[in-house]
Amino acid sequence: MILPDGHSDIPAGKIAAVVTHLEMTARPALRDDPAGAWTLRKVDTPALHWYRDLHRRVGEEWLWFSRARMNDAELATIIRAPGVEVYALGVDGHEGLLELDFREPGQCELVYFGVTAALIGTGAARFPMNRALELAWSRDLRRVWVHTCTFDHPSAVAFYQRSGFRPFRRQIEIADDPRLDGTLPRTAARHVPIIE
Ligand SMILES: CC(C)(COP(=O)(O)OP(=O)(O)OC[C@H]1O[C@@H](n2cnc3c(N)ncnc32)[C@H](O)[C@@H]1OP(=O)(O)O)[C@@H](O)C(=O)NCCC(=O)NCCS
Repeated sequence: MILPDGHSDIPAGKIAAVVTHLEMTARPALRDDPAGAWTLRKVDTPALHWYRDLHRRVGEEWLWFSRARMNDAELATIIRAPGVEVYALGVDGHEGLLELDFREPGQCELVYFGVTAALIGTGAARFPMNRALELAWSRDLRRVWVHTCTFDHPSAVAFYQRSGFRPFRRQIEIADDPRLDGTLPRTAARHVPIIE
């Protein structure tokens, strides 16, 4: 559906974001890694409580609700699917999450990408991005893509562009507010106020 020009009302109890899709169609030159003793660990068959905890600590402030809303069977099916790869970033007790989806032939989606609060704005995100791009482009691919939305950290679009992605598609996403059904705490994401 194409929304009309002008302002469109969003019902109380719903949230709405502008989503930006970005892609690259050739291997980019990698930027310098940040200094530090970084590790990126592939987590085969992720334990659900471990995944939920890291996903919440990276994403709750940015309203990452779709995985939080899944029951255990749904979550296990997706994060343990052949072609889906989960990685944990670590440095000095801080963490990050990287999830890649290779299920579409010839493509890689960065499904989840983020670092915990203390690392934001420090240049840290270059490390998991460089590893993600190495992992992706070591395969026979024609495209790596990611989407981010206005619930996410405001640096995300520019960071992805500096990393070599080109914006190509914009959407509006509307959903039930995950803070009103107990999926996320009411205190999450003050940049998206609750309207009920
Ligand atoms: C999105 C995200 C990865 C962007 O990373 P970021 O580090 O916050 O990006 P910022 O642009 O705010 O800050 C980093 C920039 O500060 C500068 N900088 C600050 N300190 C630096 C340092 N010590 N060394 C080098 N650069 C430094 C650099 O320009 C750097 O950008 P670059 O690495 O692209 O060159 C990060 O904010 C994040 O994980 N957010 C939470 C989750 C999220 O919203 N994820 C996106 C969902 S799709």
